[in-house]
Amino acid sequence: MKLQQPLGDAVEKVLMPPVCFCWTMRGSDAIAANANATPPRFINPRSRRCRAFQVKTRGAGVDSSFMASSVSLTQVAKTFIRDRTPVPVLRDLSFTTNPGEFVVLLGPSGCGKSTVLRLIGGLETPSTGSVQIGSEAVTSTDDRTAVVFQEPRLLPWRTVAGNIALGTNRRRGNDSRLSRTQSRTLGRHLLDQVGLLDTASAFPHQLSGGMAQRVALARGLACEPEVLLLDEPFAALDALTRMRMQDLLAKIWTDRKSTVVLVTHDVDEALYLADRIIILGGTPATIVDSINIPAQRPRDRNDPTFLLLRARILAHFGLAYEQASSPDFEWQAAD
Ligand SMILES: Nc1ncnc2c1ncn2[C@@H]1O[C@H](COP(=O)(O)OP(=O)(O)OP(=O)(O)O)[C@@H](O)[C@H]1O
Ligand SMILES: [Mg+2]
Repeated sequence: MKLQQPLGDAVEKVLMPPVCFCWTMRGSDAIAANANATPPRFINPRSRRCRAFQVKTRGAGVDSSFMASSVSLTQVAKTFIRDRTPVPVLRDLSFTTNPGEFVVLLGPSGCGKSTVLRLIGGLETPSTGSVQIGSEAVTSTDDRTAVVFQEPRLLPWRTVAGNIALGTNRRRGNDSRLSRTQSRTLGRHLLDQVGLLDTASAFPHQLSGGMAQRVALARGLACEPEVLLLDEPFAALDALTRMRMQDLLAKIWTDRKSTVVLVTHDVDEALYLADRIIILGGTPATIVDSINIPAQRPRDRNDPTFLLLRARILAHFGLAYEQASSPDFEWQAAD
């Protein structure tokens, strides 16, 4: 079978976990997975990965508690080779998230935000320095992360429920104690959370952009990653849908508290969602500012604190407000 469209990273990240594709994929999914096959690997139920997902069952429901992990980048540099010429993109990049922290990366277009995300997801390797999740280095077959991209990258031949099952199957591959029924229940629960229970049997082409992106988010969450990586996941949505998606993400994150690293260009989105905003700048890029957001949750989009913080952020993009550039201006409520 010839694939109609190339598999993107997000799909690979779900389809390709070497722990599960060999016994969960069938038919065209298996062909798709095998198109990029890596050697299968079986997980010991007593492994670190399985211990991290401490699944308890109550009746038919799934009550899972899992460890969120910290993410550490230590003096990371990344240089790409383009036309045989080295192109340094990142330099001396170091930061550590707390487990369960919501970190947002902001920076000018092309500065290397997605590259940082790909390094954390094991889709790129650093030229120098190290990237760790918890106390272990990230590897190219790392299954502790899930990625949601700007485009939903759903499998068109699978229904909504079928796409979510890719995530829950991956989760089952990592935790042999999760039964098929519990995995389905988890899938339904996630669909309910993103408000798409009614569309479980629909195919991707029957969904609106916002609905498809909600499915992608649910699929990312379905494997209960220790770290959820979001690369401009709402960029293609209209303003109102985008705000609803931000509310949804904030609610899901509050319920689950996995570590999130979100890349966005939207300063208001960053302020609304982040515990901490890390701003990248320069060529090659490094961290030019790191701002803790002290606002309580649930947040108010009109929180006056955000005005000052927004000015501080915009100043890094050469969009300084008069207030921000005044010598009397104090960065209240910020580090
Ligand atoms: N595989 C690659 N080979 C060569 N250059 C690359 C590769 N991936 C990224 N780059 C380069 O690295 C730089 C950073 O790219 P990246 O996609 O990380 O930027 P970004 O900050 O996410 O940009 P945007 O905000 O526009 O999405 C760009 O100059 C890009 O051309
Ligand atoms: Mg990008």
